[in-house]
Amino acid sequence: MRLDKFLADAGIGTRSEVKAKLKKGLVTVNGLPVSRPETQINPDTDTVCFNNDAINYSKYEYYILHKPAGYVTATKDNIFPTVMELIKGSTAKNLAPVGRLDKDTEGLLLITNDGELAHNLLSPKKHVDKTYFAIINTAVNESDVEAFEHGVDIGDDRLTLPARLEIISSAAENSEINLTIHEGRFHQVKRMFHARGKDVIYLKRISMGALSLGELPKGEFRSLTEEEIQLLKKA
Ligand code: URA
Repeated sequence: MRLDKFLADAGIGTRSEVKAKLKKGLVTVNGLPVSRPETQINPDTDTVCFNNDAINYSKYEYYILHKPAGYVTATKDNIFPTVMELIKGSTAKNLAPVGRLDKDTEGLLLITNDGELAHNLLSPKKHVDKTYFAIINTAVNESDVEAFEHGVDIGDDRLTLPARLEIISSAAENSEINLTIHEGRFHQVKRMFHARGKDVIYLKRISMGALSLGELPKGEFRSLTEEEIQLLKKA
Protein backbone atom coordinates (compact mmCIF):
# COMPACT_ATOMS: atom_id res chain seq x y z
CA MET A 1 0.00 0.00 0.00
CA ARG A 2 1.03 3.66 -0.39
CA LEU A 3 3.09 5.06 2.47
CA ASP A 4 0.91 8.17 2.88
CA LYS A 5 -2.24 6.04 3.20
CA PHE A 6 -0.52 3.77 5.71
CA LEU A 7 0.51 6.77 7.83
CA ALA A 8 -2.92 8.43 7.61
CA ASP A 9 -4.69 5.17 8.52
CA ALA A 10 -2.33 4.79 11.48
CA GLY A 11 -3.55 8.16 12.79
CA ILE A 12 -0.38 10.18 12.05
CA GLY A 13 -2.49 12.88 10.37
CA THR A 14 -4.52 13.68 7.30
CA ARG A 15 -2.99 12.87 3.92
CA SER A 16 -1.70 16.46 3.55
CA GLU A 17 -0.31 16.57 7.11
CA VAL A 18 1.39 13.25 6.41
CA LYS A 19 2.98 14.68 3.24
CA ALA A 20 4.44 17.58 5.24
CA LYS A 21 5.83 15.17 7.83
CA LEU A 22 7.39 13.02 5.09
CA LYS A 23 9.05 16.14 3.62
CA LYS A 24 10.57 16.94 7.01
CA GLY A 25 12.26 13.53 7.00
CA LEU A 26 10.40 12.24 10.07
CA VAL A 27 9.56 8.86 8.51
CA THR A 28 11.82 5.88 7.92
CA VAL A 29 11.07 2.58 6.23
CA ASN A 30 13.32 -0.27 7.37
CA GLY A 31 15.71 2.28 8.87
CA LEU A 32 16.02 4.53 5.80
CA PRO A 33 14.42 7.99 5.56
CA VAL A 34 11.67 8.11 2.93
CA SER A 35 10.00 11.31 1.74
CA ARG A 36 7.89 10.22 -1.27
CA PRO A 37 4.22 9.76 -0.26
CA GLU A 38 3.62 7.30 -3.11
CA THR A 39 6.33 4.87 -1.90
CA GLN A 40 4.84 1.37 -1.76
CA ILE A 41 5.24 -0.52 1.49
CA ASN A 42 4.07 -3.86 2.86
CA PRO A 43 2.49 -3.33 6.32
CA ASP A 44 3.14 -6.98 7.24
CA THR A 45 6.87 -7.04 6.52
CA ASP A 46 8.20 -3.44 6.45
CA THR A 47 9.04 -1.51 9.62
CA VAL A 48 7.80 2.05 9.36
CA CYS A 49 8.91 4.55 12.02
CA PHE A 50 7.57 8.03 12.72
CA ASN A 51 9.77 10.20 14.96
CA ASN A 52 11.84 7.03 15.61
CA ASP A 53 8.79 5.13 16.95
CA ALA A 54 7.71 1.98 15.10
CA ILE A 55 4.10 2.15 13.92
CA ASN A 56 1.93 -0.76 14.83
CA TYR A 57 -0.45 -0.93 11.91
CA SER A 58 -3.92 -2.35 12.16
CA LYS A 59 -6.63 -1.85 9.58
CA TYR A 60 -9.14 -1.70 12.40
CA GLU A 61 -9.69 0.27 15.56
CA TYR A 62 -11.60 -0.99 18.59
CA TYR A 63 -12.83 1.19 21.42
CA ILE A 64 -14.92 0.72 24.51
CA LEU A 65 -16.92 3.81 25.47
CA HIS A 66 -18.68 4.52 28.76
CA LYS A 67 -21.78 6.08 27.23
CA PRO A 68 -23.43 8.78 29.32
CA ALA A 69 -27.20 9.38 29.20
CA GLY A 70 -28.29 12.01 26.66
CA TYR A 71 -26.23 10.68 23.71
CA VAL A 72 -27.83 8.76 20.87
CA THR A 73 -26.23 5.58 19.55
CA ALA A 74 -25.80 6.71 15.97
CA THR A 75 -23.10 8.12 13.73
CA LYS A 76 -25.21 11.22 12.88
CA ASP A 77 -28.21 12.93 14.41
CA ASN A 78 -29.85 16.26 13.67
CA ILE A 79 -31.02 16.93 17.21
CA PHE A 80 -29.00 15.11 19.86
CA PRO A 81 -25.27 14.58 20.37
CA THR A 82 -24.08 11.17 19.18
CA VAL A 83 -21.78 8.69 20.90
CA MET A 84 -19.30 9.19 18.04
CA GLU A 85 -18.70 12.76 19.22
CA LEU A 86 -17.09 11.28 22.34
CA ILE A 87 -14.49 9.31 20.34
CA LYS A 88 -11.88 12.03 19.92
CA GLY A 89 -8.61 11.88 18.04
CA SER A 90 -9.33 8.99 15.70
CA THR A 91 -8.97 9.51 11.96
CA ALA A 92 -10.31 6.02 11.15
CA LYS A 93 -13.07 5.88 8.60
CA ASN A 94 -16.34 4.00 9.12
CA LEU A 95 -16.11 3.79 12.91
CA ALA A 96 -19.55 2.88 14.23
CA PRO A 97 -21.19 1.63 17.40
CA VAL A 98 -21.87 -2.11 17.64
CA GLY A 99 -25.49 -2.49 18.66
CA ARG A 100 -27.47 0.16 20.38
CA LEU A 101 -28.11 1.62 23.81
CA ASP A 102 -31.15 3.85 24.34
CA LYS A 103 -30.54 7.58 24.72
CA ASP A 104 -31.15 7.38 28.47
CA THR A 105 -29.07 4.19 28.95
CA GLU A 106 -25.48 4.42 30.13
CA GLY A 107 -22.56 2.05 30.01
CA LEU A 108 -20.49 -0.14 27.79
CA LEU A 109 -20.60 0.48 24.07
CA LEU A 110 -18.17 -1.09 21.62
CA ILE A 111 -17.11 1.12 18.72
CA THR A 112 -15.16 -0.27 15.78
CA ASN A 113 -14.68 -0.20 12.03
CA ASP A 114 -14.27 -3.99 11.93
CA GLY A 115 -17.56 -4.73 10.18
CA GLU A 116 -17.11 -8.49 10.31
CA LEU A 117 -16.66 -8.53 14.10
CA ALA A 118 -19.63 -6.18 14.53
CA HIS A 119 -21.80 -8.41 12.35
CA ASN A 120 -20.80 -11.53 14.30
CA LEU A 121 -21.41 -9.94 17.70
CA LEU A 122 -24.85 -8.75 16.65
CA SER A 123 -25.88 -11.99 14.98
CA PRO A 124 -28.90 -13.44 16.82
CA LYS A 125 -27.29 -16.89 16.40
CA LYS A 126 -24.26 -15.95 18.52
CA HIS A 127 -26.16 -15.15 21.76
CA VAL A 128 -23.44 -12.85 23.12
CA ASP A 129 -24.06 -12.27 26.86
CA LYS A 130 -24.91 -8.72 27.86
CA THR A 131 -25.18 -7.78 31.53
CA TYR A 132 -27.07 -4.72 32.73
CA PHE A 133 -27.29 -3.07 36.11
CA ALA A 134 -30.72 -1.51 36.65
CA ILE A 135 -32.78 0.31 39.22
CA ILE A 136 -36.42 -0.77 39.18
CA ASN A 137 -39.28 1.34 40.49
CA THR A 138 -40.59 -1.31 42.89
CA ALA A 139 -39.77 -4.60 44.61
CA VAL A 140 -38.23 -7.41 42.54
CA ASN A 141 -38.69 -10.97 43.74
CA GLU A 142 -38.09 -14.66 43.09
CA SER A 143 -41.09 -14.87 40.76
CA ASP A 144 -39.37 -12.33 38.49
CA VAL A 145 -36.19 -14.45 38.61
CA GLU A 146 -38.22 -17.50 37.57
CA ALA A 147 -40.16 -15.64 34.88
CA PHE A 148 -36.96 -14.35 33.27
CA GLU A 149 -35.37 -17.79 33.53
CA HIS A 150 -38.36 -19.24 31.69
CA GLY A 151 -38.68 -16.40 29.14
CA VAL A 152 -41.29 -13.62 29.05
CA ASP A 153 -43.74 -12.35 26.46
CA ILE A 154 -42.66 -8.85 25.47
CA GLY A 155 -45.06 -8.62 22.55
CA ASP A 156 -42.84 -10.27 19.92
CA ASP A 157 -43.63 -13.49 18.09
CA ARG A 158 -41.63 -15.54 20.62
CA LEU A 159 -40.70 -15.41 24.31
CA THR A 160 -37.36 -13.95 25.38
CA LEU A 161 -34.52 -16.44 25.77
CA PRO A 162 -33.77 -17.53 29.35
CA ALA A 163 -32.13 -14.64 31.20
CA ARG A 164 -30.38 -14.51 34.58
CA LEU A 165 -31.76 -12.02 37.08
CA GLU A 166 -29.72 -11.32 40.20
CA ILE A 167 -31.40 -9.25 42.90
CA ILE A 168 -28.91 -6.94 44.62
CA SER A 169 -31.50 -5.25 46.84
CA SER A 170 -35.27 -5.16 46.83
CA ALA A 171 -37.69 -2.71 48.45
CA ALA A 172 -41.12 -1.28 47.63
CA GLU A 173 -39.60 2.14 46.71
CA ASN A 174 -36.97 0.69 44.36
CA SER A 175 -34.69 -2.29 43.74
CA GLU A 176 -31.25 -2.85 42.28
CA ILE A 177 -30.59 -5.78 40.00
CA ASN A 178 -28.19 -7.26 37.47
CA LEU A 179 -29.74 -8.90 34.42
CA THR A 180 -27.85 -10.98 31.86
CA ILE A 181 -29.54 -11.48 28.51
CA HIS A 182 -28.30 -13.38 25.46
CA GLU A 183 -30.06 -11.47 22.71
CA GLY A 184 -30.47 -7.82 21.83
CA ARG A 185 -34.07 -6.97 21.06
CA PHE A 186 -35.25 -3.37 20.90
CA HIS A 187 -35.64 -1.91 24.45
CA GLN A 188 -35.34 -5.47 25.69
CA VAL A 189 -34.57 -4.92 29.38
CA LYS A 190 -37.24 -2.24 29.77
CA ARG A 191 -39.81 -4.41 27.97
CA MET A 192 -38.94 -7.47 30.09
CA PHE A 193 -39.63 -5.56 33.30
CA HIS A 194 -42.67 -3.95 31.74
CA ALA A 195 -44.02 -7.47 31.09
CA ARG A 196 -43.76 -7.96 34.86
CA GLY A 197 -45.62 -4.68 35.55
CA LYS A 198 -42.42 -2.88 36.64
CA ASP A 199 -40.44 0.04 35.28
CA VAL A 200 -36.71 0.47 34.74
CA ILE A 201 -35.75 3.86 36.12
CA TYR A 202 -32.00 3.62 35.49
CA LEU A 203 -30.12 1.31 33.11
CA LYS A 204 -26.43 0.73 32.57
CA ARG A 205 -24.68 -1.99 30.56
CA ILE A 206 -21.75 -3.32 32.54
CA SER A 207 -20.48 -6.10 30.28
CA MET A 208 -20.77 -7.55 26.80
CA GLY A 209 -19.15 -10.89 25.97
CA ALA A 210 -15.54 -10.72 27.17
CA LEU A 211 -15.67 -6.95 27.70
CA SER A 212 -16.32 -5.24 31.03
CA LEU A 213 -16.82 -1.57 31.68
CA GLY A 214 -14.61 -1.73 34.79
CA GLU A 215 -13.59 1.65 36.20
CA LEU A 216 -13.73 3.53 32.88
CA PRO A 217 -15.14 6.98 33.79
CA LYS A 218 -18.45 8.07 32.24
CA GLY A 219 -17.96 9.84 28.89
CA GLU A 220 -14.48 8.38 28.37
CA PHE A 221 -13.21 5.70 26.01
CA ARG A 222 -10.17 3.48 25.69
CA SER A 223 -8.72 1.15 23.07
CA LEU A 224 -9.35 -2.54 23.54
CA THR A 225 -6.32 -4.62 24.50
CA GLU A 226 -5.07 -7.20 22.01
CA GLU A 227 -6.34 -9.91 24.41
CA GLU A 228 -9.85 -8.40 24.49
CA ILE A 229 -9.94 -8.24 20.68
CA GLN A 230 -8.93 -11.89 20.39
CA LEU A 231 -11.53 -12.96 23.00
CA LEU A 232 -14.29 -11.09 21.15
CA LYS A 233 -13.27 -12.70 17.87
CA LYS A 234 -13.40 -16.16 19.45
CA ALA A 235 -16.83 -15.61 21.01
N1 URA B 1 -32.46 -2.78 26.94
C1 URA B 1 -33.11 -1.61 26.98
O1 URA B 1 -34.29 -1.56 27.30
N2 URA B 1 -32.45 -0.49 26.65
C2 URA B 1 -31.14 -0.48 26.32
O2 URA B 1 -30.57 0.58 26.05
C3 URA B 1 -30.46 -1.70 26.29
C4 URA B 1 -31.15 -2.85 26.60
